[in-house]
Amino acid sequence: MLRTLASLAAAFCLLFTGACSAGPAPLRDAYRPHFLVGTAVNTRNYADENSEEARLVKTHFKVLTPENIMKWDALQPLPGQFDFRAADRLVEFARKNQLYVVGHTLVWHNQTPDWVFEGEAGRPPTRELLLARLRAHIDAVLGRYKGRVQAWDVVNEALNEDGSLRDTPWRRIIGDDYIEKAFEYARAADPAAHLYYNDYRLESPSKRAGAVALVKRLQIAGLRIDAVGLQGHVTLTQPSIQEQEDAILDFHRAGVKSMISEMDVDVLPSTKAWGDADIRLKEAADPAFNPYVSGLPPEIQSQLATRYADFFRMYLRQRDKIVRVTVWGLNDGDSWLNEFPIKGRTNHPLLFDRQNRPKPALQAIIDATKESRNAVR
Ligand code: XIL
Repeated sequence: MLRTLASLAAAFCLLFTGACSAGPAPLRDAYRPHFLVGTAVNTRNYADENSEEARLVKTHFKVLTPENIMKWDALQPLPGQFDFRAADRLVEFARKNQLYVVGHTLVWHNQTPDWVFEGEAGRPPTRELLLARLRAHIDAVLGRYKGRVQAWDVVNEALNEDGSLRDTPWRRIIGDDYIEKAFEYARAADPAAHLYYNDYRLESPSKRAGAVALVKRLQIAGLRIDAVGLQGHVTLTQPSIQEQEDAILDFHRAGVKSMISEMDVDVLPSTKAWGDADIRLKEAADPAFNPYVSGLPPEIQSQLATRYADFFRMYLRQRDKIVRVTVWGLNDGDSWLNEFPIKGRTNHPLLFDRQNRPKPALQAIIDATKESRNAVR
């Protein structure tokens, strides 16, 4: 009924005023009965509330993840000196527009200032000192945004490909339990917040097993973890839908929900392993690796749409195990994949193009919800 009214209104708008852009139906509305949809945002996306980008954010998405401004280097660049200005603006934009925010991220080995891992006289800090810094950071940040940032990526990318714990300063200085400590401090600082572990390539069986083990460790320690974020940096061909679905099922069996936290579909060639999102990776520029500078050819555009739809059909099938799907950027011009792992390329991994026009992929994932409605009937 509501849907009929909405389409009547849209038809009226087109016929009699000619003023309204027809555009696709809001993505977030299509997915409202199933799971939340979100986007990563940079500060330009919402600097002007009336810009086209801000309008797209508000229309199509319900959850925002700040792409950079809640990382440690942005929030506490110097010991004890917090800079909340940018994060405050984001949180205010979200509040005004009734959007949720996922804080990204509390504990990571990247985008963390050197001072965090420095002690006296050029030596590393003691375990106690680094734990105190971690607690102070978490207390200050979660304390400030209590009730306004609903969820946190507590620990980011702590695992190696073989499922073992990554060798990072956090682990070297504190020990393996730095993960438990981070969850403990976050839970204490904001008991109502949802807390996540987030990583890339969790579709790979060995890494996935490591993540399941990590979830179990937290549970045994009596710490609640609400979901695992599969970053979902995929390509046109890898991983298979089945591999990602298997990961979601494994996490479900371990007692946690999944989310796709940073989805994008890389359409450019690369020599790195699919899904490897280690931001320190760099590859040399080569024009052969940048084939779509003047636009995405229609056949690749349609492959991209099919690929997105295939994933979202699976998410719909597993909707009881999925909290949210977030795309990592609003439009193709914003995407970090224009700079990673090769600088200065023209990638096309998202749902809106460089002119903020919806791509066929957007319509394809909206249409996927109609198929699933028919299937249920
Ligand atoms: C990326 C941002 O998109 C870039 O703007 C920044 O230069 C580097 O970090 N995994 C993560 C994200 O968890 O924080 C990373 O974001 C992409 C990989």
